[in-house]
Amino acid sequence: MFRFSVPVFWQKCVLVLLLAAFFVPAPSFAAAGKEGILLVAFGTSVPEARPAMDAVSASFREAFPGSPVVWAYTSQIIRKKLAAEGRPVGSISEGLNRLAKDGAKTVRVQSLHMMAGEEFAALERAVLVYLQKHPGRFAAVYLGRPMLESRADAEELAGAIFAETAPLRADGAALVLMGHGQEHGRGDLVFEGVRSVLQSKDQNVFLATVEGARTLDELLAELAGAGAKKAVLAPLMLVAGDHARNDMAGDEEDSWTSRLTAAGLSVRSHLKGLGEMAGARAILVRHARESTDDLTREPRKP
Ligand code: CO
Repeated sequence: MFRFSVPVFWQKCVLVLLLAAFFVPAPSFAAAGKEGILLVAFGTSVPEARPAMDAVSASFREAFPGSPVVWAYTSQIIRKKLAAEGRPVGSISEGLNRLAKDGAKTVRVQSLHMMAGEEFAALERAVLVYLQKHPGRFAAVYLGRPMLESRADAEELAGAIFAETAPLRADGAALVLMGHGQEHGRGDLVFEGVRSVLQSKDQNVFLATVEGARTLDELLAELAGAGAKKAVLAPLMLVAGDHARNDMAGDEEDSWTSRLTAAGLSVRSHLKGLGEMAGARAILVRHARESTDDLTREPRKP
């Protein structure tokens, strides 16, 4: 007759393993599933923007080790252009598809926009539409807010920009920042708030926008009023792309450089996007970490 017996030694081993499995805490991703990061920007095709984008990728990889980091551009024109050049970047839904394929159960969507303007609203809507089409695909999808939300954000960003530009302003040059802004006014008040935070720390700092309400003409009047003779121009944008290179630092007669020069100032441009400043990237990483805004859940009822 066959008698099945397990040696006592092995019986003990099995018991120890069972106990170990009971007491050792499961890896943290077990509860929420594997995590993935989706970084969303308007997009740029300017090759000089690369260092800023690469630095942002690196910061997120470091902050979320083991999580895939995928990019999405909301601008269809830029996506088409990049695809034609053989360096494709996907849309939001393509990015989410890829993270799902990679096995991500929890997604952190991080807006790389400067503020919650039109592009951020479009991002949120695109994610919600995706989740409606693919219910249950992710356990949670957290939306990280853009760079400038709170006064603390503005103060942190001001600190990063001042540290970066201080060596260039040793001669007492004014710092002139170029924000983007939007014609219909969304974001105008964020710029006013940021301007107020900047000037509370350094009165020799000025801010205007390309498309927002605060114009270059106002800026020129302010610089004249302050008696500024020298200025360092820098973008208040994630990358030093088309606006920074052409509208700000370009040779055309309506560029900011040309207008300030015509007004008698000596002008230098700092062609670095905020993505190239560790202090600015830290704000985006913090927003990704802090977000509890899970778009797969219904809003809490009051
Ligand atoms: Co633009």
